[in-house]
Amino acid sequence: MARHFLTLLDLTPDELDYVIDRAITIKKGLKAGEIYEPLKNKVLGMIFEKSSTRTRVSFEAGMTQFGGSAIFLSSRDTQLGRGEPVEDSARVLSEMIDAVMIRTFDHATVERFAEYSSIPVINALTDDYHPCQLLADVQTFVELRGSIKGKTVAWVGDGNNMCHSYINAARQFGFHLNIACPEGFDPMPELMEANKERITLVRTPEEAIKDAHLVVTDVWASMGQEEEQAEREKAFAGYQISPALMNTAASDALFMHCLPAHRGEEISEDMLDDERSVVWQEAGNRLHAQKALLEFLILGRIEN
Ligand code: CP
Ligand code: NVA
Repeated sequence: MARHFLTLLDLTPDELDYVIDRAITIKKGLKAGEIYEPLKNKVLGMIFEKSSTRTRVSFEAGMTQFGGSAIFLSSRDTQLGRGEPVEDSARVLSEMIDAVMIRTFDHATVERFAEYSSIPVINALTDDYHPCQLLADVQTFVELRGSIKGKTVAWVGDGNNMCHSYINAARQFGFHLNIACPEGFDPMPELMEANKERITLVRTPEEAIKDAHLVVTDVWASMGQEEEQAEREKAFAGYQISPALMNTAASDALFMHCLPAHRGEEISEDMLDDERSVVWQEAGNRLHAQKALLEFLILGRIEN
């Protein structure tokens, strides 16, 4: 049975710790100039129904560095875009390649794909979750501050796919998550209910950020919500992260954003240049964390 990664709950906390550890080791090897090709001749299919810079480049570069290759499949040019059922596509790709990553709208699409796939399926972002980004975020925190277990993380902004993955991360990695979002933009109620002892929902960024070790935000209008931009800008006024707001967090607090960022909206013009911002390292870690994930899903644990 293939292992999938549709949400962070598909790996055990122990497996997630292992993947973060491997990501750090794989990164060190790459930086030292070592050639490591555990996926020689393996092929990853990359299905994109939404735009991407980081996700596409990190998966494709990762497969190349590992000695394998990746095929970019846009829904515009494949039969998926002309209505070929997901169930059929999953079975066809399973005959030809070794793993698939999918970026799409409806989370049920990746679930259906995985149900019919005999090769690992990775969620590369849906409307509900973005688990790959959390691997990179946790790796970045661990590199800079050590274990995230027992820490306080503040999520400020929309109760969106990233926020949902932070809720799952609070559960799997053992931290407390303060969520500040305006009324009407809360995360999914069932997810909050299932994690009520690890999250605190508040209505002001100040309350969420107070004493946080990590502050995270994201765009106010996600992909697919472009027409709500003006309405959302009004609803989220007052939720902008700035260096001044960061001063109310713990003294060694870090700032992360999955990117792309909108300066002047969810962050001030100068936030990404603040010394507490680690967004470039965070973006770079998409490469290393996903290489560790691919290695784990395709080959299993590597004995050191
Ligand atoms: N953070 C992230 O997933 O970026 P892309 O949309 O560029 O892939
Ligand atoms: N919430 C954003 C994340 C982009 C990486 C979106 O879904 O567009």
